[in-house]
Order: sequence, then C-alpha cells, then structure tokens
Amino acid sequence: MERELALEFVRVTEAAALATGRLMGRGDKIAADGAATESMRRAFDSVYIDGVVVIGEGEMDEAPMLYIGEKVGAGTPPQVDVAVDPLEGTNLVAKGLPNAISVLAVAPRDCLLHAPDIYMDKIAVGPKAKGHINLDASVEENMGSVAEALGKKIEDLVAIILDRERHQGIIDELRRLGARVRLITDGDVSAAMATAVEGTGVDILFGIGGAPEGVLAAAALKCLGGEIQGRLVADDERKRERVIKMGLKDPAQFLTMDDLVRGDDVIFAATGITDGDFLQGVRYAGNVATTESVVMRGTTGTVRFVKATHRLDLKPNFIARTCS
Ligand code: FBP
Repeated sequence: MERELALEFVRVTEAAALATGRLMGRGDKIAADGAATESMRRAFDSVYIDGVVVIGEGEMDEAPMLYIGEKVGAGTPPQVDVAVDPLEGTNLVAKGLPNAISVLAVAPRDCLLHAPDIYMDKIAVGPKAKGHINLDASVEENMGSVAEALGKKIEDLVAIILDRERHQGIIDELRRLGARVRLITDGDVSAAMATAVEGTGVDILFGIGGAPEGVLAAAALKCLGGEIQGRLVADDERKRERVIKMGLKDPAQFLTMDDLVRGDDVIFAATGITDGDFLQGVRYAGNVATTESVVMRGTTGTVRFVKATHRLDLKPNFIARTCS
C-alpha cells in the first residue's frame, strides 16, 4: 500500500473522533457510537481504496453501516481489507472516562483475520518482551519470562486487564505473584497498545476481550514491534459455525500475530476521543477543535503522532448530528 494512504486514514479516524467527542459524558453510548460510525463511513468515501470491511460494526443484518462485507472507499485500487472500530470504548465516552479512541487498520485483501463479534483470549507485550509470551503457559510462567526479558522483577511489572468477573483467577494470581495490576473498565485495544508505547508504564496485557479488538490490536502491535497472541472463544456450536464460515478451519486455533494480520503491509490509525495514556482527547473551542492521532506502518515501523487543528465551520460534516 502507498504510504500516502496513511494520512488519508488519519482523516477518517479524526472524523469519527470529532463527531463523537461532543457526546462525551452524556450517558448515551448508542448515540456516541452512531455519531462515530456515520462520520467514519462518510469520511471513507473520499479515500482512494477498494476496501471491504472485515472487522466492523457487526454482521450485515445487525449494523446499518460499516458492517462486515460492506464496501468502503472510492472503489479504486488497491484492494484492501478494512478493520474499523469507529468508537472503541462506547462506555468510556458515555461516562467521560479515559482511553476512548477511534481506530482502524488496513491491509491488502485477505491479510486481516475475519473474526466475528465474539470473545478472544489475549496476551500482549511490547517489543522488548516479544518472543517471551505464550498464551498457553500459566500467568506465573509468562510473568517470569517477561520480567526476565525486561530486566525487572515480577513485582515491578504492571499487568493490565479488563475488570471482569471472568478474569478473577488471573487477577488473583497476579496479586499472589506480587505484580502491580491495572484494572480497566473498557478499551483493550488501547490497553494492548500501551504495552508497546514508551512511558505508559504498562508491561503486559492479559484476558478475554472482543475478537475484533484483538485483530485491531494485532495490527497496532505489528507496527509497534510488540506481540499479541490470541484464541477465539467459540464456546457454542453457533459461534463455531460462524468462525468456520468466516474462513478459520479450527475455531480453537492458537492465533499468532501473523494469523491475525498476515505480513507487514498494514497501516494502523487511531485518534483520541477522551484523554488517554498516549493520545489526548478531542478539545473544542467554538469553531475550532484539536485532535491527536497516531498513524503507523508495519512495513517501515514508522510511528507518527499527528496533532491537528480543525475549523469546524469549514467542516460542518464533522459535527455530530445527534448533538442538540
Ligand atoms: P465497545 O466499544 O464495543 O463498548 O467495546 C469496549 C470493550 O471494552 C472492548 O475494548 C473489549 O474488547 C470489550 O468491550 C470487552 O467486552 P465485555 O464488555 O463484554 O467484557
């Protein structure tokens, strides 16, 4: 993919963030998601790609826009797979909590895992601990191996994990080992990325979150030089059938980075909506808004932070229609 596309993709995540940022703290996650989705969908129209959504807002019959299989872009080459989450962290925006982002990843056709909206078990680390994790090993083994790779003690490591009942066993084990634990209410794409971004203080991500989020996190970690491993949680016949229908022969397959995102030719973009660990959220002042985004390419490993000032009077489409 041409590198010029990177800036085009930032425009798309910026559009979604600008639309939904206005709805921060209003307690309406559906409106917030709707505003982001509509704006992202519209922004894609002017991007010169022949894109197919493989990770999106749901299946065709359950999502009006950016559904799996929907064509996006101007319809010109290159032919690409598109993974989107216009608003990653709907509750975070609804409650005004940190780390809501608008996010997308694009790779050549058939290079992104086609995953249904089910859960995925995940483990992720940054570049220095790459090659030192194993989803099938115990928490203790992983913590020991990551500590050694980072030259730290286990009690110095910070593990990030969604605060869910299903994770109580992992959380108890982390506490028993003396590790420092950061429980988050939502947003495991940004949490996985935090393991690979200097200065966040996060070393490892554990736990079960959305499978679509797992693919997006893999795209980000590929560009950042980190690692994620996963396994879909296809725990009933219907889910297993959906997974197989989407192209995976074994629904319980151990998923490496390359199973999630094949090759290095991937572009990842994210824009902060609420203030976060590595991206500032949208700020509005009258007709002016500022956004902070990150855009990265797997081929070169270049990571760019893009701070933008937007004149909203000149971009009326960027204002959330749902905003009263
Ligand atoms: P939404 O943006 O769709 O609300 O997802 C937020 C999120 O926290 C993801 O980051 C995470 O992967 C998933 O939900 C976890 O799902 P659950 O809330 O069911 O545990």
